[in-house]
Amino acid sequence: MSAQLSTTDFPPLKNDLIIRAAKGESVDRVPIWIMRQAGRYLPEFREMRSKQSFFELVQNPQLACEVTMMPINRFDLDAAIIFSDILVIPQALGMVVEMLPSKGPSFPSPLIVPADLAKLNKDCDVKKELGYVFEAITLTRHTLQGRVPLIGFSGAPWTLMSYMIEGGGSNTQSKAKAWLYKYPEESHELLKILTNVIIDYLVEQVCAGAQLLQVFESHAGCLDHTLFVKFALPYIRVISKRVRDKLKERKVACVPMIIFAKDGHFVLEELSQSHYEVIGLDWTIKPQQARRICGDTLTFQGNLDPCALYASKDDLTKMAKDMLSKFGYKNYIANLGHGIYPDIDPENVKHLVDQVHKISQEMIQK
Ligand code: CP3
Repeated sequence: MSAQLSTTDFPPLKNDLIIRAAKGESVDRVPIWIMRQAGRYLPEFREMRSKQSFFELVQNPQLACEVTMMPINRFDLDAAIIFSDILVIPQALGMVVEMLPSKGPSFPSPLIVPADLAKLNKDCDVKKELGYVFEAITLTRHTLQGRVPLIGFSGAPWTLMSYMIEGGGSNTQSKAKAWLYKYPEESHELLKILTNVIIDYLVEQVCAGAQLLQVFESHAGCLDHTLFVKFALPYIRVISKRVRDKLKERKVACVPMIIFAKDGHFVLEELSQSHYEVIGLDWTIKPQQARRICGDTLTFQGNLDPCALYASKDDLTKMAKDMLSKFGYKNYIANLGHGIYPDIDPENVKHLVDQVHKISQEMIQK
C-alpha cells in the first residue's frame, strides 16, 4: 500500500525545532526527544510485542509506523525516530539475528575467523533487502502529518562489526577487538563492507522521507584512542561525506546528521571535525568540557543519565534545570545520555519533556 505513497509530497512541517537547533538557528524552546522512545517502557508497545516477535514488528511497515507514533501520541516530543534496529544491516548482509526474551540480540552463527567474511552477501541490494524500513519511513512521514520531524538511523561500522563477531551483547567486546589486533586487514575489509551498506541505507532513508539521521557508535567506549582513530573514526567520517555527496548527486536535499559515540568523550575533538551537525553526548562528560573541546558552532544532544528518570518529579525538574543551565538553549537538543530503560514510568518521561520545554522557554524569554 505504502508503495503508492509519495516520497516527495509530504504534509508541511509544523514543528521544526530540532532541525533549527541542529543547524544552530534560534528556537523558542529547547527541543527534546528520548533515545529508544518507542519501546518497552510503554504498555501499548508491550501489548503489541506480546503478539509479534521484535523483528516481525520491525519488518512490517504498518506496525513499525504504529510503534513510531506511540510516544508521539503520548508526549510533547519534538521528533519521532523510526522504529527499527541497528541489526537490520547484518541481516541484510545475510546473517541471522534473533531477539531473545531476556538476553537481547543473538546471532546463532557469528563471524569467527576472517574466512567467514565470504559468507556475507557483500553486494546486497539495500533497496530490496531493507525496503521495509523505507516503506515504514514514508508511511510514517504521512502519518505524522508534519507534527514533528522523523529521524532515520544506522549503527556505525565498528558497533555493527562487534555485534557480528561477538554474536550478541558483550561487556568487553574482546572477541571483536581480537580481530582488530590479529586481523587488521580483514577488519578493515569488514568495516568497508559495512560502511558501503550503511551509506546506501542512510541515503535511501532520506529519499524515503527521513529528516535527520543519527549514527549510533554504541561500542565506542571499549576502544582506546588508537583503535578508535584507526578502526572507527575514518568510517564515521566517510559516512557523513558520502551520504551528503550521494544525496547531492540525486538532487535530494541533505539533512542534519547526528553522531552518538557512547563513552566516546576521549575522541570528542576528532568527532567535532567529522562533518556531523550534532554530537550526541552520554552522561559521563561535563557539558562545559564538551563545549571547550568542540567549540561553539556544533549542536550537542544529551546527556541526562537514563537512571535520572527513576528520581522523584521534583528532583527531575532540578536536573532538567541544571542540564539546561549548563548546555544553554542555543545549539542544544535535550535527550538522555543513552536509551531509556524498560522499567521507567512513562509519567516521568512526560514530566521531563514538559519541564525541558517550560524551563527553556522561560530562559529564552528572559
Ligand atoms: O529509539 C527508538 O525508539 C527507535 C528504535 C530503536 C531500537 N533499537 C528498538 C529496539 C533504535 C534506535 C535502536 C538502536 C539500537 N539497537 C542500538 C543503538 C542504541 C544503543 O542502545 O546503544 C543498539 C546497540 C541496538 C541493539 C539492540 N536491540 C539491543 C542491545 C537490544 C536489546 C536490549 C534492549 O535495549 O532492549 C535491542 C532490542 C530492541 N531494539 C528493543 C527495541 C524497542 C527491545 C526489543 C524487545 O521488544 O524485545
